[in-house]
Amino acid sequence: MVVLRNVLLTLGVASTAIAGNSNGEKLKTCLKYALTDSGRVAFAGDPLYQVADVKRYNLNIPVTPAAVTFPTSSHQVAAIVKCAADNRYHVQAKSGGHSYANYCLGGTDGAVVVDLKNLQQFSMDNTNWHATIGGGTLLGDVTQRLHDAGGRAMSHGTCPQFGAALDHIVGAEVVLANSSIVHASESENQDVFWAIKGAASGFGIVTEFTVRTEPEPGTAVKYEYTLKIGSTQERASLFKQWQAYISDPQLTRKLASTLTLLEDTLIITGTFFGTEEEYEALDIGGQFPGANGTAIVFQDWLGLVGDWAEEAALELGGGVASNFYSKSTAWTPKNIMSNETIDSLFDYIDTADKGTLIWFLLFDFQGGYTNDIPTDATAYAHRDVLLWLQSYSINLLGSVSQTQIDFLDQVNKLITPDDHPYAAYPGYVDPLMSNGAEAYWGSNLARLQRIKGDIDPDNVFRNPQSPMPALR
Ligand SMILES: Cc1cc2nc3c(=O)[nH]c(=O)nc-3n(C[C@H](O)[C@H](O)[C@H](O)COP(=O)(O)OP(=O)(O)OC[C@H]3O[C@@H](n4cnc5c(N)ncnc54)[C@H](O)[C@@H]3O)c2cc1C
Ligand SMILES: *[C@@H]1O[C@H](CO)[C@@H](O)[C@H](O)[C@H]1NC(C)=O
Ligand SMILES: *[C@@H]1O[C@H](CO)[C@@H](O)[C@H](O)[C@H]1NC(C)=O
Ligand SMILES: *[C@@H]1O[C@H](CO)[C@@H](O)[C@H](O)[C@H]1NC(C)=O
Repeated sequence: MVVLRNVLLTLGVASTAIAGNSNGEKLKTCLKYALTDSGRVAFAGDPLYQVADVKRYNLNIPVTPAAVTFPTSSHQVAAIVKCAADNRYHVQAKSGGHSYANYCLGGTDGAVVVDLKNLQQFSMDNTNWHATIGGGTLLGDVTQRLHDAGGRAMSHGTCPQFGAALDHIVGAEVVLANSSIVHASESENQDVFWAIKGAASGFGIVTEFTVRTEPEPGTAVKYEYTLKIGSTQERASLFKQWQAYISDPQLTRKLASTLTLLEDTLIITGTFFGTEEEYEALDIGGQFPGANGTAIVFQDWLGLVGDWAEEAALELGGGVASNFYSKSTAWTPKNIMSNETIDSLFDYIDTADKGTLIWFLLFDFQGGYTNDIPTDATAYAHRDVLLWLQSYSINLLGSVSQTQIDFLDQVNKLITPDDHPYAAYPGYVDPLMSNGAEAYWGSNLARLQRIKGDIDPDNVFRNPQSPMPALR
């Protein structure tokens, strides 16, 4: 059912550029030539194509790219983009592969995937602590390399103290749809620079990032408060206390916090970027009476990140590929859930047929620095968001059922504020969403469509939810 809806939806938004492509052989010849000296290319139909080259993260979404390429330089990336554009194929970059729904383009032709894993260059400018990082570097490796280059660090996702990862970018080398390689920053190709900070997948391929860095955080405290079982009222009440706590505009920017709801359990976790004494003075335990708390003090940054990584690997079926469905929604400080809405959420959770025991709702606090930046300063539009929900429902054995989908959809319906346009986190491509581009880019969508019309009018870079070019 999901599969079918997904394919229909994808076909529904299929662009004008590609329909029933008969250029398959030309594409193959061109890509093989582009990657003669080094790198590699695999084609749909090759042995082990799905497991070795495509490597889907969400098995519930069918993904059959026409080719997966592994270039070793920005010149090869440019040559690949040219092969694809000349033969009317869409292109999508791939780095970590967590945005699982990106390459599921309609029809039998699929897209050309540019897997950037070989782009691993790294250098540090010790005069201004700007680091230059190859576009295929995973976050764990970025962390290690910044550490080795002088004890530096940057945000992972969002961080109340230092802002989002994208707020660290000061420059980028980008391959555009016409296969030119340009540099983008505040002073060159400003439109490209603006668009890639939050919407890169529809505008080009970043082969190299230049980022500002911070001194590594020193001591940090990782805390965890758990309420096991608990009555519907007890859990709802703890949720209200947490929401009130993180909505306080005076909340210290040293605190990150997430509330996770799972079957029978509520967990409040996060990291405090400061000393144990400062942490104790906050008296977090006193804020969440009734929950069992633990706190671990980390003296070094790499130890803390290692611990985060372990935790992340435990999410979603132990880090292995699985079938799942996921949705997001958001609140600003002005429209956070009322006590009545929170009560109805917990009532619903305790009575609904969820179709599985493996589901979780992650409420993620996005306050602080990320909110300081004006909405139109970068393509990332959700600067006013205080709290994100990201929900998951997993099936380890086969396709996600309609009951699982209905459960998460109903949760979203119950709690999404209706006095604000629906906001979705752009880091999660959700092919079942009907107004994806609006939900991802909100008031920045019109400018994105104009830039798209200027630099990629044929929609070479396309995923199921990327902005369409404005007509000229
Ligand atoms: C379990 C899980 C937990 C998560 N937790 C968090 C979190 O705590 N905070 C948070 O902020 N996000 C979180 N995310 C979201 C995650 O950050 C986004 O999905 C992110 O886009 C993944 O990047 P990737 O490189 O792994 O994915 P990919 O699928 O490789 O890429 C993501 C998108 O960017 C495009 N792209 C990739 N590289 C480039 C490039 N160099 N140039 C241009 N376009 C490119 C791809 O085409 C694709 O559209 C989580 C996701 C999952 C699955
Ligand atoms: C706290 O931990 C104890 C011991 O593990 C357990 O018996 C109790 O149920 C827990 N309480 C809560 C609120 O989770
Ligand atoms: C909501 O509930 C919390 C915790 O029970 C309480 O402190 C607060 O006053 C309530 N808010 C309103 C508006 O009633
Ligand atoms: C490629 O596109 C960019 C952005 O539109 C433009 O500035 C550049 O001149 C183009 N290059 C070529 C060779 O057409």
